[in-house]
Amino acid sequence: MTKQLQKAWDQLRAIHRTLDGVDLRQLFAQPGSRFDAFSRTGCDVTIDFSKQRINRDALDALLGLADAAGVSQRRHAMAAGEILNVTEGRAARHMALRAPVDDARFADVAADVETVRARMLAFADEIRAGTISASDGAPFSDVVNLGIGGSDLGPLLIDQALAPYRSGPRLHFVSNVDGAHLADTLKALDPARTLILVASKSFTTLETMMNAGAARAWIADALGETTIASHFAAISTNLKAVAEFGIAEDRVFGFWDWVGGRYSLWSAIGLPIAIGQGPGVFTELLAGAHAMDEHFLSTPLQDNLPVLMAMVGIWNRNLEGHNSLALIPYDQRLARLAAYVQQLDMESNGKRVTLDGAAVAYDTAPIIWGEPGTNAQHAFFQMLHQGTTVVPIDFLIAANAHESNPTLSGHHPALLANCFAQSEALMFGETTEQAEARLLAAGMSTDDARRLAPHKTFPGNRPSTTILYPKLTPHVLGQLIALYEHKVFVQGTIWRINSFDQWGVELGKVLAREILPMLDGNAAASNASTAGLIATTRRLRDTT
Ligand code: F6P
Repeated sequence: MTKQLQKAWDQLRAIHRTLDGVDLRQLFAQPGSRFDAFSRTGCDVTIDFSKQRINRDALDALLGLADAAGVSQRRHAMAAGEILNVTEGRAARHMALRAPVDDARFADVAADVETVRARMLAFADEIRAGTISASDGAPFSDVVNLGIGGSDLGPLLIDQALAPYRSGPRLHFVSNVDGAHLADTLKALDPARTLILVASKSFTTLETMMNAGAARAWIADALGETTIASHFAAISTNLKAVAEFGIAEDRVFGFWDWVGGRYSLWSAIGLPIAIGQGPGVFTELLAGAHAMDEHFLSTPLQDNLPVLMAMVGIWNRNLEGHNSLALIPYDQRLARLAAYVQQLDMESNGKRVTLDGAAVAYDTAPIIWGEPGTNAQHAFFQMLHQGTTVVPIDFLIAANAHESNPTLSGHHPALLANCFAQSEALMFGETTEQAEARLLAAGMSTDDARRLAPHKTFPGNRPSTTILYPKLTPHVLGQLIALYEHKVFVQGTIWRINSFDQWGVELGKVLAREILPMLDGNAAASNASTAGLIATTRRLRDTT
């Protein structure tokens, strides 16, 4: 660690000590609007981080740390295609996938990107128009995307988020190697009307390859082997493996090793969206992400949304010691946001060594989890308000709903009120005296009020950020996803880890390959637990 960086951390720790015992209520009682001081707008997104337990000195120290860690330089290094993924010798150029074709920063890859995008959008258009049809000449009604992780979570999130924009064949997503996932999906579909997309960067992933094999058999059994070419397309960087699988060249949409799996939805991995919602919607999504890229690359750190979100996260993780972050979209269509950001954040920054392989001396990625509000209020918010563990929260909400039906006119105001009420309750809480007074005012006896008040006490001082946007349009959704991408990048920079590899997923894959023959008794387990589980499974298998 450089002296400058060490100094920035020391400075931050010193500021943190000055806030010892200071709670959010006290911070809000100070003169001046905390909203004015601690909220920012970039593109169409406003973030209010005034309910974080920070003051101006803390914010300055956090920005000082970002500066000392070289965030400004590294954001441009990423755009310029420097090899940031040092363990795999790769760049991280996902911003090139959503940049205008004449953007000089991505000139070296722009032509390739444009060629694939034009092919993929033309293919999507033809599927939608029925000019590319099923083997019987009739249009496809359903598209099944077979992929997992980054080859699944992005398009799945977007398909749900942009449900109001659906205008093409229905989309289905199958990821799990649990055969139930494929079986339950295909059960409702007609092979004659179904297009299968095999989405895999590597084209070797066990889950996707097994599902692709089974789907191939499903089509061939129903329609004959000769129909496979009409009913399959693939998205991959491994063109050789795709050809071996038997998918024709004009049905393959490539991308490049400088696109990480969890950053790939902007590439041909987004093909389902171009088919289901249309090329125009997909293009708008890219434009939204590009707008956030511009904001990230050109805005000074103190007004830079991804930088501010990242540094608030650093504060909560490394100074306050909080080990998780809940994402609570008050937006039912963002139900899969937490799952998406789980991969983005935890696969990127769930690391324990620095870029040079030394053990980190601080905590890295928090646990990301969450569910949409208001449902979450009726499930785990009890713990968030009164439990013993403090969980920082990102609330997300649109100012406007898509629904114009008069019978729903009261829904969105109710959603907004609930969202704002939750962050306020978490921040202010309610003291035992306030709780007691409220009970007495409701007519309760003094003894009963005193007995009940501790149960009705809310400690408050629980931090949250609210992310507000006009409406969940394709453009805004692109901005929001890019916002989280860059936040994760900034945190990786602060922690000096490689946010673009994922070696931690490999060992389990190796062991699964070793264990597979053991299930049939063809090899012995290396330990008593696995041996016992396999023996019990074999016994259960035989008797049921
Ligand atoms: O196992 C993790 C992972 O490699 C992710 O990083 C990736 O998004 C996912 O598997 C799927 O990989 P692929 O697109 O190569 O099938």
